[in-house]
Amino acid sequence: MKYLQNTVIWLTALLLFAFSGCNQKPAGEHTFAIGNKTFLLDGKPFVIKAAEIHYTRIPAEYWEHRIQLCKALGMNTICIYAFWNIHEQKPGEFDFSGQNDIAAFCRLAQKYDMYIMLRPGPYVCSEWEMGGLPWWLLKKDDIKLRTNDPYFLERTKLFMNEIGKQLADLQITKGGNIIMVQVENEYGSYATDKEYIANIRDIVKGAGFTDVPLFQCDWSSNFQNNALDDLVWTINFGTGANIDEQFKKLKEVRPNTPLMCSEFWSGWFDHWGRKHETRDAETMVSGLKDMLDRGISFSLYMTHGGTTFGHWGGANSPAYSAMCSSYDYDAPISEAGWTTPKYFKLRELLADYMDEGKTQSEVPAAKPIIEIPEFEIKEVAPLFGNLPEPKTSENIQPMEQFDQGWGTILYRTTLPAVTSGTTLLITEVHDWAQIYANGKLLGRLDRRRGENSLKLPALAAGTQLDILIEAMGRVNFDKAIHDRKGITEKVELLNESSTHELKNWQVYSFPVDYPFVKEKKYAPGKKLDGPAYYRATFNLEEAGDVFLDMQTWGKGMVWVNGKAIGRFWEIGPQQTLFMPGCWLKKGENEIIVLDLLGPEKATIKGLDKPILDMLRAEAPMTHRKEGENLNLKNEKPVASGTLKPGNGWQEVKFDAPVKARFFCFEALSSQNGNDNAAIAEFYLLGENGKPLSRQHWQIAYADSEETRGGNFTADKIFDLQESTYWSTARGDKYPHQVVIDLREEVVVSGFQYLPRAEEGYPGMVKEYKAYTKMSPFKF
Ligand code: GLA
Repeated sequence: MKYLQNTVIWLTALLLFAFSGCNQKPAGEHTFAIGNKTFLLDGKPFVIKAAEIHYTRIPAEYWEHRIQLCKALGMNTICIYAFWNIHEQKPGEFDFSGQNDIAAFCRLAQKYDMYIMLRPGPYVCSEWEMGGLPWWLLKKDDIKLRTNDPYFLERTKLFMNEIGKQLADLQITKGGNIIMVQVENEYGSYATDKEYIANIRDIVKGAGFTDVPLFQCDWSSNFQNNALDDLVWTINFGTGANIDEQFKKLKEVRPNTPLMCSEFWSGWFDHWGRKHETRDAETMVSGLKDMLDRGISFSLYMTHGGTTFGHWGGANSPAYSAMCSSYDYDAPISEAGWTTPKYFKLRELLADYMDEGKTQSEVPAAKPIIEIPEFEIKEVAPLFGNLPEPKTSENIQPMEQFDQGWGTILYRTTLPAVTSGTTLLITEVHDWAQIYANGKLLGRLDRRRGENSLKLPALAAGTQLDILIEAMGRVNFDKAIHDRKGITEKVELLNESSTHELKNWQVYSFPVDYPFVKEKKYAPGKKLDGPAYYRATFNLEEAGDVFLDMQTWGKGMVWVNGKAIGRFWEIGPQQTLFMPGCWLKKGENEIIVLDLLGPEKATIKGLDKPILDMLRAEAPMTHRKEGENLNLKNEKPVASGTLKPGNGWQEVKFDAPVKARFFCFEALSSQNGNDNAAIAEFYLLGENGKPLSRQHWQIAYADSEETRGGNFTADKIFDLQESTYWSTARGDKYPHQVVIDLREEVVVSGFQYLPRAEEGYPGMVKEYKAYTKMSPFKF
């Protein structure tokens, strides 16, 4: 009955859409509408072949070149997000000029006969700072982002109206090239709230996007949670996914809908300290072929990833993990706009699926490349010797409350007498702290590793305590997007007998703006071990694209000729920064480097190739110590049984709820008889049967993790990404075990398990045992 009702509503919506498109427009105008199992462009069936590229990640001077590259692939559409936080960096001050001129970008696409799919948020995810939301929203203490919070909706509406002013006239019915507009972004993996989605839909319409179909994108596992009857539903998945499975449910509930994968992931993004991600070209192309053969529309995310310049990179959580500056994504068009073997394989495929009367255009030549011979940076401005005016605050407050959006912040206070062994506890460090007593470095804390405390030596009363914190990207995914920076709550001294909260702070802000970094008192000097700004000029005979080699530097940011280029961190995997030639000039150029660690050698050179895969992480990313073997001999499983074959979530309920601090999942055999085990996502259920928060989980042990061919460590089972997974290494035999430290005592009543989604479901577990314990497992 429910099914019939849905179908009727859907068919009515569909007819209304199709007819409203045809009836009301004067002759000569174009339309884009929803037909029976197809999109309709001017009333004719149309398959969207979209290339996702982001105007913010490509210098405006190169937009045209990248659009030409997409055109030459055989794509007919460009898919873009609108990034709220780059347009409204201060409340009420909108910037749509130059690099931010999103309308100019769309018009350029139209010049090449390319349509636009617009995804205006308000939230966009995209490994972008705070998923595109402006940081200043967090100044409101109790804000609930991506909900019906009145302030959030009010600000969203103001922003969306501005986007409307820029782009509503570019809808296809009005002579422009916008054919579809997205409402929110993968909301199913955030919450279930149809009323909120309806509000965003109305805001999008209210901004003037009334003439083209509005759509939602989600995962096949959750697209129904927030699906509105009058919106088009599309599914996101990556290279390797089983196409039939991905659309199975959608076809059941909406048999007449056009099918579209609105994000088909060509590759994946890189995090600091984790292996560089790649995806196989053949597999990507065969997935696209599968879709084209079935008339399924797609957007290839990313066709060209480009660069997340300056401080705009986001982060994932749990565990907190910030994004690299390069957004190369292993996409068909490289970060610097070069064609790759993936590009040509894809071009060859698309040649067979060109729209009627269209041919592939010529591949444009790559932009010129230069090298820059090594030069030394000889002007230095130590950070502690260049303190700005402080603000005072009795209590610790996050950076936002000092009106600072990004960069580094110093909290300074005076200590009482401290006995040796006292713990300094910081709740919470966002994101990377250096702690000093009277100017001497005591230690560093890294949020990625869950570090939040330091044992202090004996310190005399009156010692000056400095906590210097670098904010990395704000989390761009899930509830952790409420990611305030600096120190979020408090700083305490703990010893056996007492807890003492430190108060009366002087707070110094170091923003990332060029005028701020330029004004430091630079003086001739040698490299320093501590945090400092470095400045140099260098001469070029010719400008051209180049990769700044940061291998001898520690951790920080680079500005060239006034433009923020990006973050660097010695741990890699990214070791070079893409420096677009259009921002360099013949003759004198200026470079400023903020290094919070201090360089090994204060020299720079420009390479003609990027280095994106040189990991120099301080500790292994895997979760098994040399010689460690899990001993389950005397443990009694809380559950055991056989999982079903096939895609999708499975749930197992224990006979009775149990208290647990540690959990072990042991896979005893696989569905296909092979050695490999793989898990995409895993939840534990609480007493009420609902999934428990995984925010503080850590992997205590995994018997085997594949890290040679890719990034398949066990923490992937709780990273909220259904397309990434834990996989055991080739050749390692069953049984396979993963132990999770829940980092709190909880009551567990069962678990949910999602197998890997790839064709054939490699690694799907058959028989299993589950164990819980209040104390650590034995080895
Ligand atoms: C999701 C989001 C995108 C991006 C990709 C991963 O699909 O919608 O914005 O974050 O994941 O790159």
